[in-house]
Amino acid sequence: MSTFPATRLRRLRRTGALRDLVGETRVQLADLVMPLFVGTEALRNDALPAMSRHTVDGLVLEVDGLAAAGVPAVLLFGIPHAKDDEGSGAWIDDGIVQQALHALRGRFPELLLLTDVCLCEYTAHGHCGVLSGGEVDNDATLELLARTSVSHVEAGADAVCPSDMMDGRVGAIRHALDDAGFEHTPIVAYSAKYASAFYGPFRDAANSAPAFGDRRGYQMDPANVREALRECELDLAEGADVIMVKPALPYLDVVRAVRERFQVPVAAYNVSGEYGMVKSAAARGWLDERQAALESLTAIKRAGADIVVTYWAKDLPAWL
Ligand code: PBG
Repeated sequence: MSTFPATRLRRLRRTGALRDLVGETRVQLADLVMPLFVGTEALRNDALPAMSRHTVDGLVLEVDGLAAAGVPAVLLFGIPHAKDDEGSGAWIDDGIVQQALHALRGRFPELLLLTDVCLCEYTAHGHCGVLSGGEVDNDATLELLARTSVSHVEAGADAVCPSDMMDGRVGAIRHALDDAGFEHTPIVAYSAKYASAFYGPFRDAANSAPAFGDRRGYQMDPANVREALRECELDLAEGADVIMVKPALPYLDVVRAVRERFQVPVAAYNVSGEYGMVKSAAARGWLDERQAALESLTAIKRAGADIVVTYWAKDLPAWL
């Protein structure tokens, strides 16, 4: 192998065109998913605009802009006007996400409509499943998640994304979708979802912080990567079509490990805290938002993600 001075790696870094030609990783709009919040009342967030809450009408306007700019997919989160112990707002026919899906489906036939399937925004206690004896009851929650998934697909969802971390939920959802005649609808499973501090801004936006305790009894321990592979393996065995790692940036090693182990599409969720950290630092003039965002997304793709869920999906058409 030749070395310096015959070899000079700087030769291919001299111009933008050369760098583009040899770039190993590319961030492209086709791989991005924009999360969106819909509720009965709008709630603007000026510091973190992508965390704003839209009414159904406002959502249609927002999605109009996204679709026109070429964003291929959105992931819907609902904030119901009332919560109860079971989270019934998640699956009722006129639930907020169902209303949003009805409004969007006819207008945007090409846009991919994904929905987050979880009970935490809908339960009065803010946990991701129903409680019994002060704990989240895994098996009793499965039927409710399955019901929620079927109702989303009936209302027009293209794919459902369970984010609750109950054991067996992918199988329960697959079974219920098949029974309802939706055997062609994919499941994008939040398979390796960690109990993370980086969900902070989301819980404000979605009004979904647990009223007591935390989520460590069902979400994963940040210390574990072998366990993430087991989660993915089980979700795939139960019928998941895409597996997801969340958060993204503090877990790039997990994204890489999952990428290497499984021959299925891998998604990574660049969560609200990752977005918020860059936004707040940019607001103080500490870093350039566009550059930091593109670097973050490039790193997530380089680690092996095929699909990236990111609050910057809206800004990317102008930035790329
Ligand atoms: C619902 C859910 C959460 C996120 C996505 N789906 C919050 C949580 O588990 O507390 C987090 C998204 C983000 O922080 O951007 N279970």
